[in-house]
Amino acid sequence: MSSYPWRIQNPEGTFRVIVTKTLPGRQWLDILTAADCRLEICHSKAALDTEAIKAAIGSRCDGAIGQLTEPWGETLFNTLKAAGGVAYSNYAVGYNNVDLDAATRAGIPVGNTPGVLTETTAEMAVALTFAVARRVGEAERYLRAGRYTGWLPDLFLGTLLHGKTLGIIGAGRIGAAYARMMVQGHGMQVIYHDLAANTDLESFVADYNRFRVTQRMSAVACRRAESLDELLETADCVSIHTVLDDTTRHLIDARRLSLMKSDAILINTSRGPVVDEAALVDHCRRHPDFRAGLDVFENEPEMASGLAELDNVVIVPHIASATRWTREGMATLAACNVAGVLNGYPLWQQPDILPFLEADPPRAIPSIVNAGALGWLAQAE
Ligand code: DGY
Repeated sequence: MSSYPWRIQNPEGTFRVIVTKTLPGRQWLDILTAADCRLEICHSKAALDTEAIKAAIGSRCDGAIGQLTEPWGETLFNTLKAAGGVAYSNYAVGYNNVDLDAATRAGIPVGNTPGVLTETTAEMAVALTFAVARRVGEAERYLRAGRYTGWLPDLFLGTLLHGKTLGIIGAGRIGAAYARMMVQGHGMQVIYHDLAANTDLESFVADYNRFRVTQRMSAVACRRAESLDELLETADCVSIHTVLDDTTRHLIDARRLSLMKSDAILINTSRGPVVDEAALVDHCRRHPDFRAGLDVFENEPEMASGLAELDNVVIVPHIASATRWTREGMATLAACNVAGVLNGYPLWQQPDILPFLEADPPRAIPSIVNAGALGWLAQAE
């Protein structure tokens, strides 16, 4: 065991499971306890490195729940395998911190937590969008500094978003939820960029337009962009909802920033490295009317030099999924992933993951991202 503070829960449990951070709620503890697990939970707030996790895995460990701040690669999956480990779950929907090939080579299924972050993360993207458009951060700092001397016609003039064009990069679950919120709430037009057409989103907007007609409101558009460059040139507000992989690292770089309108808005609630942060700082400096809202950073917890000083940027510390319901739901799903593998349950094959949050969760494994590579899907057919 490493020098970090670890606590043991259900010491009599047969399966030894390490959990590298304490998680919100109780249901996850009950699920793993009912699955006969002895839990060793790290109570340190510091991100654990490979050596600390290796030490925690030790010579016998059946499963692990890890964090997006940890490097789950070859070394850790081989260590887990050598210790008899058969299950890993990330406490996150994203898994760019996990080397899936290494996990698959070690024969270890990797769980994640989809379906409970969607609305929560989309709501944070909405919150950042309006904080940026209406200059909430700047105005609050001004007020708290005692500089408000009375109402003025031109104090903190911002951008009206109603009816403007929204660019969605990555129209998956979260991107589409954000788009729906901005279309229904604010009559925004949508242009999105994705590998595939999101026909559900397009038909949602078509149905919503039928309602708008009954209200004598003009229809809103929703279409897939020909290219990312076209989206960037067209949109008034661009929100990033893509995964981080080799194809999306620095997707938004100096060249692409220069394609955007000089008073556009850029929101990122996905992963920091999708944006070249130094280029963004430079762009925001040179274009004071350009605004950005960031939940994620390229080298968390560090920020690019100069970013925190920019008035046209709103920054929050990777909290887009931080509602109690979501974070407890993520814990429940991660626990069900590990408990399900240890108990030999089948893989959940339905898109709706919410039954796992009920008092009596299904006897199934909610979400294994390398299920196909492990040959589990062929077996399930
Ligand atoms: C995730 O689950 O990937 C989120 O980034 C956590 O907030």
